[in-house]
Amino acid sequence: MIRSSDKSYPRFRIINMFSLLFLGIVFFNHLPLDCLAQMKGDKYLSRIDSLISRMTLQEKIGQMSQFNGFGGQIPDQFREKIKAGLVGSVLNEVDPVTVNELQRIAVEESRLGIPLLIGRDVIHGFKTILPIPLGQAASWNPELVEAGARMAALEAKSVGVNWTFAPMVDITRDPRWGRIAESLGEDPYLASRLAAAMVRGFQGNHLSEHGRIAACAKHFAGYGAAEGGRDYNTANIPENELRDVYLPPFRACVDQNVATIMSAFNEVNGVPATGNEFLLRQILRQEWRFKGFVVSDWESVIQQVTHGFLPDLESAAAQAIKSGVDMEMASTSYADYIPGLLKSNRITEEQINEAVKRILQVKFLLGLFEHPYTDSSEYPPLVNDAHREIAKKIATQSVVLLKNQNKILPISSQVKKIAVIGPLANAPYEQLGTWIFDGEKKHSITPYQAIREYHDGFYEVAFAKGLEVSRTRDKKGFPEAIAAAQKSDIVLLFLGEESILSGESHCRADIDLPGAQEELVEVINQTGKPIVAVILAGRPLTIRSILDKVRAVVYAWHPGTMAGPAIVDLLFGVESPSGKLPVTFPTHVGQIPIYYAHKNTGKPATKESWIKMEDIPVEAFQLSIGNTSHYLDEGFEPLFPFGYGLSYTKFEYKDIQLSQNEIPLQGQVEISALVTNTGEYGADEIVQLYIRDLYASCTQPVKELKGFKRIHLNPGESKRVTFKLNAEDLAFYNQQMQRVSEPGSFRVWIGGDSDAQLKAEFEVME
Ligand code: NOJ
Repeated sequence: MIRSSDKSYPRFRIINMFSLLFLGIVFFNHLPLDCLAQMKGDKYLSRIDSLISRMTLQEKIGQMSQFNGFGGQIPDQFREKIKAGLVGSVLNEVDPVTVNELQRIAVEESRLGIPLLIGRDVIHGFKTILPIPLGQAASWNPELVEAGARMAALEAKSVGVNWTFAPMVDITRDPRWGRIAESLGEDPYLASRLAAAMVRGFQGNHLSEHGRIAACAKHFAGYGAAEGGRDYNTANIPENELRDVYLPPFRACVDQNVATIMSAFNEVNGVPATGNEFLLRQILRQEWRFKGFVVSDWESVIQQVTHGFLPDLESAAAQAIKSGVDMEMASTSYADYIPGLLKSNRITEEQINEAVKRILQVKFLLGLFEHPYTDSSEYPPLVNDAHREIAKKIATQSVVLLKNQNKILPISSQVKKIAVIGPLANAPYEQLGTWIFDGEKKHSITPYQAIREYHDGFYEVAFAKGLEVSRTRDKKGFPEAIAAAQKSDIVLLFLGEESILSGESHCRADIDLPGAQEELVEVINQTGKPIVAVILAGRPLTIRSILDKVRAVVYAWHPGTMAGPAIVDLLFGVESPSGKLPVTFPTHVGQIPIYYAHKNTGKPATKESWIKMEDIPVEAFQLSIGNTSHYLDEGFEPLFPFGYGLSYTKFEYKDIQLSQNEIPLQGQVEISALVTNTGEYGADEIVQLYIRDLYASCTQPVKELKGFKRIHLNPGESKRVTFKLNAEDLAFYNQQMQRVSEPGSFRVWIGGDSDAQLKAEFEVME
């Protein structure tokens, strides 16, 4: 807190006690999971076996089939289908009366009374919308992310949803890809910690606890490596990179007992993920011993034919079953072809029984056989104050301050007149972000609303959109925006992307600010008024061109329902920004892929070796000597590095210490540094630990995140922050695909971003 808390957004002051209590319950409620007992569903095995022994083949196929809902109406034909036991799961039905009716038909009218899984994409909140997952990742706060998932689960469960298709844990290093918004960023370590937190939040200690739902880690695997950042595109990933970078967040979810996994749309190295025996059988089942079930993505079973992998739908069904896809989403190749495939021995009865068993296990673990119905009155109301407070807290911690020239932020008390300008200042729908099926803009509080409510009478506030929406090219709103700026002391300029410009299938080849926003910045800058740019977006945007025209940049992602109160508390100094980038920001789209954990190459670039286009003499002779790996026009450095984010205070890092300089191969080393708040504000800092394996049998990245801690320091306060590293933390996949820790030299850094300079070295001995 920077200023006294009584200046926080007034509507929420009184509920702080309740929300603290709620957060406390969430935080302290994750005792170690009794993993095997939970996922094996051992105590249900005899009931499952008994059910399976009584099921007809059609009923088994029914369990393996998931159908889309009908928006509150249940057609007679579908009732009959459920009655006949031909439906295992329904997705996208969220009216509790309809959901209970669906369950009633399944439980009371079908022969074996097996309840339904009701699936929904609860990606970043249900009704109370949290920041997009990429924004949540910028909080680097697993406890808070867990609390958010717990809240989302509670709201979803209250209407009868018992299964979410989240977390989305695809690593991506391409901001053109629209689904980067749904992701946890570019780094396997950060994403793994947050993915596990989300699973804990959704599932709790036991799936049958009140308000818990089954989670689904998706999209297995390699979906975020889509070529060119174009959705659904081909992914080619060397196996060691797959294992070191793309798979760890899935593994973290499996270790956290995630109930289900979704197979991806894409192909990986020539084989569609949904028919990929290597991924789904060898890695997931044999190596990781995953005990839950696998659901396909929407029609991804039959898309194996479109991929050019299989000749027909029958083969597609056979391949998905052989690979271990237990439930088919939306398409009906299982229902259509399993009987024939069994007759022709292309699949086995055992494979079918295994799939059904895994699905039934999750139903038992959820307690659905005992409690198939939902009673909304047993749950807190949707979008209640405690939930809003969680949403606000995550939004506050997810905002990243990228520039703050001459400490223009927090807004000084000298300021009297504020101009609020831009297409995203008062856009209640757009601030919610992508993939919000159940979020409603009527619950949103926009930054403009929050400024009005918080500061009524305190400041004179002028408002102008400037542009209708983020994509608008028409400049007819400019004169009004210029006039608003002219009569102000400071301009708060809300720019970015509408939510529909990111998300599934919403990829962009150009990731500049869309529409005439750069021109808007230009004309407002000409008024000479200081500009604070607040950017709401689903991805890193290339914002270099506006950087020297604005005094501050506040990157807010799509912050959700509580965007306004969160941003306003930051702008006015009730809170200090503490978010850090979970993804590298390029200077230009042509630098992509650009990520901090890259390899060194044999000719790494330095500031000195970068030859700029304009410095090359005409008809210069082309030599290779002394050349390094960079672009003539865009160099080699990003606009902002991974892990970066400013605060209103300053943190100083010094005195890095190692517990020892040499450790045995199976040993452990402690690394610590002294962090001091040398500024004027009490604030949180995310202390980050990076390593580099200086030489290895398979080259390793120049830096890898291996630890982080969010700490709070008051002005003048210091803390020694300690991390532990052991052999497993230093391990990687070698060329023989063995996970190895090798002896050798390691460099470690502790700092506030991936450009950390404070370093030490240790040796791992044979
Ligand atoms: C397709 C998306 O890829 C997936 O993430 C989502 O869960 C399903 N559709 C269901 O909506």
